[in-house]
Amino acid sequence: MKFFLDTGNVEEIRAATELGILDGVTTNPTLMAKEGKPFRDALLEMCALVEIVNGEVVATEAKRMIVEGREIAALHPNIVVKLPMLAESFKAMKVLHAEGIRTNVTLVFSPAQALLAAKAGAYFVSPFLGRVDDIANDGMQVLRDILEVYRPYNFQTQVLAASLRHPMHVVEAAKLGAHIATMPLKVFQQLFKHPLTDRGLQGFLADWEKARAVLGDIVPQETAKAKK
Ligand code: G3P
Repeated sequence: MKFFLDTGNVEEIRAATELGILDGVTTNPTLMAKEGKPFRDALLEMCALVEIVNGEVVATEAKRMIVEGREIAALHPNIVVKLPMLAESFKAMKVLHAEGIRTNVTLVFSPAQALLAAKAGAYFVSPFLGRVDDIANDGMQVLRDILEVYRPYNFQTQVLAASLRHPMHVVEAAKLGAHIATMPLKVFQQLFKHPLTDRGLQGFLADWEKARAVLGDIVPQETAKAKK
């Protein structure tokens, strides 16, 4: 499973890349607006950090979407152009795909919509699972249905589980076989945590400290000084 960060914040991406397990980034107009940084500059900075950056159009009419899609895609080869789940986006995708531009159909909430995205040859489809839960429906069931619909036809469109709000969303999406999970930095950090890890480590370090005089140092003091 690939991990994407769902953010418009370049510093968050930089921090997450240091962990060595970040594969890409998803942005949306709300996330970009929150940062108050010029869109193109921010996307370019992101492209220098990760291999996939999803940048979203704001047009809702095909002709304008094509113009915006081309502009966004031309910024960097790492870009995937996000388009909302509208019939107009399908007209735009026909043109953009013919030009070799990769797309991500976003704001997807049903297997029917995901099926259309795959038929159109979208590179990613983004079901918003948390937002389905928000209206008292089952987001994971939507993901399960999408993957089931895709399976017999071997569609190449990758399923990008989005709107993930907590670690169990990520785990459930992984169990179902989503290709990608995109999540806010907070959820990414929460994945590392377990109280037994903290307690176990405290014990190890305390025991080591007690026996330090006998154990010595892992890095002998002389070597440590020389390396400073
Ligand atoms: O980037 C799209 C999606 O992940 C938004 O998540 O939490 O605003 O529903 P959320």
